Order: sequence, then structure tokens, then C-alpha cells
Amino acid sequence: MTVIAITGAAGWLGGILADALVADGRTPDLSFILADIVEPKEVKGHKSVCMKADLTDASEIERIYTTDAGIPDVIYCLHGIMSRGSEDNFDLGLKVNIDSIRLMLQAARRHSEGRTPIKFIFTSSLAVYGGPLPEVVTPSTIATPEGAYGMGKLTSELLVNEFTRRGFVDGRIIRLPTITVRPGVPSAATSAFISGIIREPLKGIEAVCPVGSSIDSPELELAAWLASPEVTIKNFVQVMHVPAEKFLKHTRVVCLPGFTATVREELQALEKVAGPDALKLVTFRDDPTNRRIVSSWPARFDNSYPLSLGFSVDEGGMVPIVERFKKAVDAGLA
Ligand SMILES: NC(=O)c1ccc[n+]([C@@H]2O[C@H](COP(=O)([O-])OP(=O)(O)OC[C@H]3O[C@@H](n4cnc5c(N)ncnc54)[C@H](O)[C@@H]3O)[C@@H](O)[C@H]2O)c1
Repeated sequence: MTVIAITGAAGWLGGILADALVADGRTPDLSFILADIVEPKEVKGHKSVCMKADLTDASEIERIYTTDAGIPDVIYCLHGIMSRGSEDNFDLGLKVNIDSIRLMLQAARRHSEGRTPIKFIFTSSLAVYGGPLPEVVTPSTIATPEGAYGMGKLTSELLVNEFTRRGFVDGRIIRLPTITVRPGVPSAATSAFISGIIREPLKGIEAVCPVGSSIDSPELELAAWLASPEVTIKNFVQVMHVPAEKFLKHTRVVCLPGFTATVREELQALEKVAGPDALKLVTFRDDPTNRRIVSSWPARFDNSYPLSLGFSVDEGGMVPIVERFKKAVDAGLA
């Protein structure tokens, strides 16, 4: 039996991860511990313990280790305050994105004593980057964030790396590209519009693009580093299967593979898949704060290291992603 704990399990990615781990089939006998400040849903057909817990509190974290399921072999540490959320509420960002991760690591360290160290999988973001960047980001590019979210993620990455170096946990850090198209309602992420300008028009709803003031604005050349939800969740499963010795010696950070698209290319894909009427549903209201933060993130990475670890990449850019999302909308699934 492999016990997997997922924090942030009531969130978007946490809510689809357990099913993906089951569907993958590489680990046949799974049980789950799902924790979130909002009551998570159980995993159908599998043993799952669901707990409503504020993971900024050490005693609440301890509950993860005292269920009938036993000590987790793997922890997917996904809970967090998203980019705009932690920029707007700095203290909450510090508490959840740093303090709570340190408490989570200390608990995993204590419960790893005398056994195989717990695999501690931490989801980070390309928001750790900022300042002058090379044309293409590689594993040796230094991260200098320009926002509270990226700073919080980078601080916690350092902790995960250090706990791993000391043998307290078997840490794995994945920096995610911006995931597009995110279903549901807009998130409190600065990058939420990158999904919104596709999702809302495909549902026949107006979307506001905070970059540029019209379809002809030069600001639409703003490029982003993207991955689809399907490929991202596949990579979430893969990260627990990478043999520890395959990671670089000095860091457990892996930038998941992605591809580059400009806001203009996204809108072109929308028009190609759903026609000019869908494009007309996008209105432009330039938001300099939003644009500044998203512009500070890199848009081109070298995929060779993550591909060598068995991670996957989207093929074909935005058009197949918009097509898949349209199919889901048409089928009433998104
Ligand atoms: N979605 C993306 O494009 C993206 C990109 C980069 C990184 N990430 C990272 O991936 C992870 C999952 O992202 P998501 O899109 O599913 O986010 P989400 O906002 O949907 O989920 C986050 C969850 O964390 C929970 N949470 C917040 N504070 C908590 C607390 N104190 N105690 C317990 N739970 C708490 C929330 O209730 C929520 O369910 C996050 O760490 C995020 O930073 C996501």
C-alpha cells in the first residue's frame, strides 16, 4: 500500500491529482489523505481520508500523520495563496506560502525518522524569476523574484532543497508554467487572464484582457510560458517516479516543460477554433500592475533537463489546447 497525502486537495490541481495517480496505474495499491482549509472531496473507489485543516497550524498538520491510513509515503504539498492573492495580502502570503511549508517540512522530517524519507513534492512557479533574464532560462539561471508570490515560492524551495540535502525528506520541486486553459471561475492569479481570454469567450461570456488597449496594441506581444492542464497533471504523476539519483546533485528544482505563446497568438488560436464572434467577446482594459508582474516572468526555457527526467511537453502550441477546451465546453464538462 502506498499512502499519498495531498494538501490543497480542494483546489483545482489538488482536486484532479488523486484520480490521475489512480488512472496512471504505475502504483497499483494507493490510499489517500486529502487536506485543505476547505473540506476536500473523497476519491471515488479508493480509500481516502478527507480532512478540513488550516495547514498554517502545526497541530493541524500533525493530523495528516495520525489517520487510519498511516504515515504518508509521498506528500504533494499544493496548498498556497496564488500570485495576486499574495501580492494583495502580503502577510497571508508569508504565512501560507512560507511559514506553513516550513511546518510541513518539519513534520515530514520528524515522521521520516527511522524509515525511508517521505517524498515531499512541492509545487513552485516561474514567478520565482524576475529582473534581467537570458533569452532562454536554463537550470543554472538564478531566480530573483519581483513579487511576493515568487519570493514565497523561492524561499520554500530553498527549505525543500536543504531538508533534502540533509536527508530529512526526499524533496522534489516542480516549477509550473502558467497552466492554460484553467476551467472554472477566474483564480486570484495575476496570470488568470491567460486562461480567461480563451475560457470565457468559448462559453459565450465576455472576457477582459488586462494587457493592451485594443486588438492592435503592441502590448499583445507579451509572451508567456504555458502548459496544458492535461500535460501538467501527467507531469505531477511523473515527479514521484523520477529516481532520486537522476536529479542534478545540487538542486531538486525542475522547471516543467512548456511552450511559448504571446497574448496575440492566444487570441489568434481562439479565432481559428471558435471564429470571429468569440474573439469579439474579448475587451481590453490595460492593468499596469498586472502587466508588470506577468512581463517580469520568463517566457522561454530550455526543456532538455525535464525531458531527460521523463516529463512531457505539449505538442502543437495553443490551437490543440483551445480545441480540447472547446470540446469540453460543448460537452458541458467545463
Ligand atoms: N494553476 C497554475 O497555473 C499554477 C502555476 C504555478 C504554480 N501553481 C501552484 O500549484 C499549486 C496548486 O495550484 P491550484 O491552481 O490548484 O491552486 P488553488 O488556488 O486552486 O488551490 C490552492 C488550495 O490551497 C488551499 N489553501 C489555502 N490556504 C490554506 C491553508 N492555510 N490550509 C490549507 N489549505 C489552504 C485553498 O483552499 C485551495 O483549495 C499551488 O501551490 C500553486 O501555487 C499553480
